[in-house]
Amino acid sequence: MKKQWWQEEVVYQIYPKSFYDSNHDGIGDLRGITEKLDYLENLGVTMLWICPIYQSPMDDNGYDISDYKAIAPEFGTMEDLEELIGEAGKRGIKIILDLVVNHTSDEHEWFQKALSDSGSRFHDYYIFKEGGQIPNNWRSVFGGSVWEKVPGREEYYLHSFGKKQPDLNWENEELRRELYEIVNWWLDKGIAGFRIDAITFVKKDLTWKSKEPDGVDGLSKCTKSSRNQPGIGVFLRELKEHTFDRYPCVTVAEAPGVPYGELGEFIGENGYFSMIFDFRYADLDIDSGSEWFKRVDWGIKDFRDKIMDSQMALQKYGWSANFIENHDQPRAATKYLKDGQDNPEAVKTLAAMYFFLRGLPFIYQGQELGMQNFNRGSIGEFDDLSSIDQYYRAVEEGYTKEEALRFVNLRSRDNARTPFPWDNTQYGGFSVHKPWLGMAEEYPRINARAQMGDKGGVYEFYRSIIRFRQKGPYRNCLIYGRIEPVLSSENVIAYKRYTQGETLLCWFNFSRGKEVEMLPDGGMEPVWQSYGEVCFHENGLELQPYQSVMLKLV
Ligand code: GLC
Ligand code: CA
Repeated sequence: MKKQWWQEEVVYQIYPKSFYDSNHDGIGDLRGITEKLDYLENLGVTMLWICPIYQSPMDDNGYDISDYKAIAPEFGTMEDLEELIGEAGKRGIKIILDLVVNHTSDEHEWFQKALSDSGSRFHDYYIFKEGGQIPNNWRSVFGGSVWEKVPGREEYYLHSFGKKQPDLNWENEELRRELYEIVNWWLDKGIAGFRIDAITFVKKDLTWKSKEPDGVDGLSKCTKSSRNQPGIGVFLRELKEHTFDRYPCVTVAEAPGVPYGELGEFIGENGYFSMIFDFRYADLDIDSGSEWFKRVDWGIKDFRDKIMDSQMALQKYGWSANFIENHDQPRAATKYLKDGQDNPEAVKTLAAMYFFLRGLPFIYQGQELGMQNFNRGSIGEFDDLSSIDQYYRAVEEGYTKEEALRFVNLRSRDNARTPFPWDNTQYGGFSVHKPWLGMAEEYPRINARAQMGDKGGVYEFYRSIIRFRQKGPYRNCLIYGRIEPVLSSENVIAYKRYTQGETLLCWFNFSRGKEVEMLPDGGMEPVWQSYGEVCFHENGLELQPYQSVMLKLV
């Protein structure tokens, strides 16, 4: 693969509403991010992905945009954003924004005009169907039909997500041109690129036919008919040629469900994007990303197989975007470690395992502290659209309210969206005003102040692995080296990273007990371990409980 500047980045994802509230109104904001740049610089990250900051009624916290070229007033002003870009730049930190072009808010001017005048050109910017009844049985990602009736007209519009998020009609060329102009306008402002939201939804099954129902509601997941549909490549290629190709930018697409065999078109030499997120391992605890009540039993072996399959598939075609958390996922410590979440060594094993994979590491705010899921007592305490929908769907599917609440606590997107715990004071130092969403219960213990400078803590561990990847003696191999799975015992994940001249073997013990791993022939020298000593045993390498070890082949 040809070297690209963005292969050396370490990305930190910010959910602006919950990062830091600089003017104390209970909502995080852009100046709040600028004020915390020293913290991010100290951690060692080189790029920030900031979730949507555009004008929005915030029905889906900014993923419902009502003006692409304006900043949401609760987040600040365009000057605040420019200041943030400038100040971050001084610290060598680049910024990528979230690009949401599958849908807008229903409060976007285009949609308002489409509603008020069905003869206007904006009507065809969205997907409307005339008639007295719902056009088909597709279920939206956030629940209920994808179709919403237009008040006062025998007409429905399509929304793959919430009803305040009407899908744009990418079949309309004029609309596409308008979107490309917006993308270029932002790239001209000096951002380093985009994370691209829900982009595999832009092409629909144009037969609009109903599908076999897959729930007691008689509906069928719209991901079968409005995601990764044949012909999508024409749009994605055109998008790239009219925008990204003209800038030295990086693009990371949220593209769930892309078959591994088609990765070449997405991330290959001339692919649509620099990278995509692969969700197969992120969703290992549920049957599909959009049905939290269909829980799946899994073990470390399943986790390992999914991670390594993903790495091997991505490596075949291009570069990968590695993550264990984001704003749509529960906290990684709770999800992946089960009963190990309270053990900092377990949290570190998980961190190191994904961090040293081949590709760009993404760290989601609070992950570097080992934050954990909350445990809410009633559905009324949730803000997230999809948590509320999943609760009622689980009940509709026959689960008790207690079970439904358990599923939602385990999976809720609010888990990741609680205000960032800067310290142990009221509201965690996030704000002096009551925050828009309740804190995670563990904040008096798990917060930035408690961890900074604590050598055994998770934060300092993240700092050290970032430094090791970016500046350590094995930097070249850890960044550019290839990856291959290594045979290991059941509760251990192992792989090797290698270049022509160097091979690093890495083991991550996910068990509470010691594990002995077979060593390949040849000399071996320890280069890094998460804690303690590297113990060689007569049969091989003896890993301590939750210990990670890296050896170099000599
Ligand atoms: C993506 C975002 C998610 C949002 C959805 C609709 O999946 O990550 O937060 O709700 O798209 O825009
Ligand atoms: Ca604020």
